[in-house]
This record gives sequence, structure tokens and C-alpha cells, in this order.
Amino acid sequence: METQAIIFDLDGVIVSTDHYHYRAWKQIADREGVPFDENRNVLLRGVSREESLEILLELASRPYSAEEKKKLAEEKNEIYRGLLTELTPADILPGVLTWIDRAKEKGLRTAIGSSSKNTDFILERIGLSDTFDAVVTGADVTHSKPAPDIFLLAAERLGVPAGACWVVEDAPAGIQAAKAAGMKTLGVGEFVKDVDPDRWAMTLGDAEL
Ligand code: BG6
Ligand code: MG
Repeated sequence: METQAIIFDLDGVIVSTDHYHYRAWKQIADREGVPFDENRNVLLRGVSREESLEILLELASRPYSAEEKKKLAEEKNEIYRGLLTELTPADILPGVLTWIDRAKEKGLRTAIGSSSKNTDFILERIGLSDTFDAVVTGADVTHSKPAPDIFLLAAERLGVPAGACWVVEDAPAGIQAAKAAGMKTLGVGEFVKDVDPDRWAMTLGDAEL
């Protein structure tokens, strides 16, 4: 099916917020005495805050109550939001603006499909609030990535069939979600080894959208 739209993940694709997520979770993990490092952090990419905490606590030495979990997730978000105040348009990853321009030149519809409930705040901070034809976030769905819901809703809002969408993702959970939605996928970033961020725009060209 001919490509009609490109759906971008936000964290780790449009902007380098991943490290802020990591720093915030790391503070929580250290305080709770739970082992946590960059490798383990990859498992948290793309999944919701609540599910991220569940994964983090898999290595905890004691069980946590629902109330404790709620508090920890809130604390993580407070730390994360504090770190996000450092975010500026300079944090937009290399090649991204070229990608968006190229997609628009080709007449493609564009959307953001992110698990993050902080999406609107982040887009505002980096000056891209009015750039995309649709923005779907974790606040819009019950089931976050790896479920297909975020991407399916993005296609619906764009008014295009799922099979006509490309998804750009940096996370295993995100690629899984896009495939489950029946969309074509383009993996970028550290998760896809040996991809130089400066070559992203070229990679998109290679994908022959
Ligand atoms: C995803 C991130 O985009 O959003 C995850 O890759 C994060 O690491 C998830 O857990 C939820 O984000 P937030 O901002 O709602 O806590
Ligand atoms: Mg991501």
C-alpha cells in the first residue's frame, strides 16, 4: 500500500529525553536499593510510566503495595518534569527537522505517537506544538506500547489506513506496537546499532516513503 503518513515516536526519536527518564528512574532506584543501569533502562523505553515502574521493581528485594507504587511513579514524574525544564529546541535530534520537512514535501501526513503523558509539554518546550497533523499520547489510550492502540488512533485521526503508515521508533516496545498495528517500521537511535544519528535523514530517504 502506498505510504500516506509517517508517525514519529517522541522520546528518543524527536528529542533526547531518554536520558532524563533514565536519570529520574535512577534516583528512585538508588534510593530504593534496586539495581538499575543503562542496559536495564532499554526495557523501559516506550512503555508507560506505570509499566516502567513494574519492570524496575522486578529486581527489588521486597514487594511494593499499590499505594507505594503510585507514590514512586509520581515522584519519578516530578523529578523528570524538573529535568525537562532544561529542554530547549536545541535538544531536537539531528536530522529530525529534515525528516519532517521531507515528509511534508512528499505530501505525507505526520503524527506523533508517544506513550508519554508529558508529550504536549515537551512539544511546547522544543517549539513543535503546531508541527504535526495529529498528536496521540499515553493519555489518549488505555493500553500503551507494545499494544498497537497509540499508532492505530494516530492513523484514525490522520484519516489514513494503518497499512499506509510508517512508524519511526527507537524502542523495542514501539517497534512491536507498530508491527501489531500492521504498519511499516523504521528503527533509529542507540537501540538500532550502528545507526549514526547524522544519517537519519538519509535513512528515511532510503526507506522510499
Ligand atoms: C515513552 C518513554 O515515550 O514514554 C518511556 O520512552 C516513558 O521511557 C513513557 O516511560 C511514559 O512517559 P511519561 O512522560 O508519561 O512518564
Ligand atoms: Mg522512544
